[in-house]
Amino acid sequence: MNLKVRFWLAGIAVVSALVLAACGGGAAAPAGGGATSLNVSTAGEQLQFAPANLTAAPGDVKLTFKNGSSAQKHNWVLVKGGDDVAAKVDEEGVGAGDAKGYIPDDKANILANTKLLNGGESDSITVKVEPGTYSFLCTFPGHYAAGMKGTLTVK
Ligand code: CU
Repeated sequence: MNLKVRFWLAGIAVVSALVLAACGGGAAAPAGGGATSLNVSTAGEQLQFAPANLTAAPGDVKLTFKNGSSAQKHNWVLVKGGDDVAAKVDEEGVGAGDAKGYIPDDKANILANTKLLNGGESDSITVKVEPGTYSFLCTFPGHYAAGMKGTLTVK
């Protein structure tokens, strides 16, 4: 084998190694740079979220809520705790009234919320979450009591 061919083969080997390394690195990197994307809708016209049970990795979660009903108003509110906190936030939200989208001024018990959406509308929010189990609900009057709630598990 002459010197020129040997350099040429060595060059091919180096380029192949770089290509393999680049592909391997891309596959190992976190997809999309971090945020978990979650999509929630209403179960059609029913006063329920679909899905009602969500799972995410710790860190940034981008949640998109679509009001899939035709006429009902809904929101999606993530609370700092379980059912007991959700019940409290429901009371506070209803008290805040329609003009405030049923979101209380005091957000001590709220991690994140969408705005109040008309039928067919969507809203996206990003929230940073730590490991744990969190309840979410719709604070439109009567909806939480009717079962418009769910659970986000972060692990
Ligand atoms: Cu609702």
